[in-house]
Amino acid sequence: MESIAINQSGYQIKRGRIEEITELTELEKLFRIVLPDDEALDHDPGQFVQVSLFGVGEAPISICSSPTRRDSFELCVRNAGRFTAALHQLKVGDEVGIRGPFGVGFPVVPLEGNDVLLIAGGLGIAPLRSLINFIIDNRRDFGKVDILLGSRDPESMLFCDELAYWRKRIDINFCCSVDRAAPEWEGNVGLITALIPGASLDPLKTIAVACGPPIMYRFVVDELLKKGIPESHIYLSLERHMKCGLGKCGHCQIHDVYCCQDGPVFNYSWVKKIKGAI
Ligand SMILES: Cc1cc2nc3c(=O)[nH]c(=O)nc-3n(C[C@H](O)[C@H](O)[C@H](O)COP(=O)(O)OP(=O)(O)OC[C@H]3O[C@@H](n4cnc5c(N)ncnc54)[C@H](O)[C@@H]3O)c2cc1C
Ligand code: FES
Repeated sequence: MESIAINQSGYQIKRGRIEEITELTELEKLFRIVLPDDEALDHDPGQFVQVSLFGVGEAPISICSSPTRRDSFELCVRNAGRFTAALHQLKVGDEVGIRGPFGVGFPVVPLEGNDVLLIAGGLGIAPLRSLINFIIDNRRDFGKVDILLGSRDPESMLFCDELAYWRKRIDINFCCSVDRAAPEWEGNVGLITALIPGASLDPLKTIAVACGPPIMYRFVVDELLKKGIPESHIYLSLERHMKCGLGKCGHCQIHDVYCCQDGPVFNYSWVKKIKGAI
């Protein structure tokens, strides 16, 4: 694929080479990608790239590795339709087009010095993993860290090896739940919202970040507010259909806001004022 260099870097497609592919579940694969000359992607946790395949199309995918690990970056892709099915056919050594990184990611600076509550539903763990590993690599800059993870069933759980590692760390409180499971499952069963009341936290010192399906947000926010966490301490990552990633096409627009440029991560005090945002 020829790289198309147009002066603004957001339009420029870089050639990313797939270095490693890991099958995470029946539906999701993890792609480790390197840019030419081992250039770092230089992203913030929570940002995304537009991934393209010549003759097939382009889709936004969250960067799921931490920017502290600079020699390559990782994308976790669910086989959801035509484009992502084509991505899943690729082999190690194949190339994909990469535009970006785009958007405003998680609020790393406001998180520093505070306690952090991270809430991931389903594939929402992919972008949050970037932030979690960033926090682990800069652990002393953050207070108490709680991770709550919700998954449809045990088989859909992503990054199982890493989850086991987070669970073992004494400086992280990790808790997960599945919506349904066979009787052999020894963990929690129930919606992710059921984990919030049990979390021991100082609400005024805690910043909560949630990432998951839109349906999850209203219930998660209700539980966080019940715990006494102020609205301004709650951040949500909003997923909207996107095309350009550049604030030009309007696909991701909510009123006068472009999710691709102004988000995907937003403070809840803003989100609650916009009809239809969650
Ligand atoms: C900011 C952002 C980050 C994303 N990060 C990831 C990620 O890390 N991993 C991942 O697997 N997917 C991610 N997605 C979703 C991904 O872009 C879509 O699943 C993909 O575009 C589907 O393309 P397709 O041609 O394979 O499927 P299609 O055949 O086009 O659609 C399959 C299904 O996906 C839905 N869909 C299509 N496009 C989008 C879209 N842009 N946003 C949400 N749903 C969509 C459709 O409604 C349909 O239900 C992200 C989307 C956004 C906006
Ligand atoms: S994706 Fe085109 S304006 Fe946001």
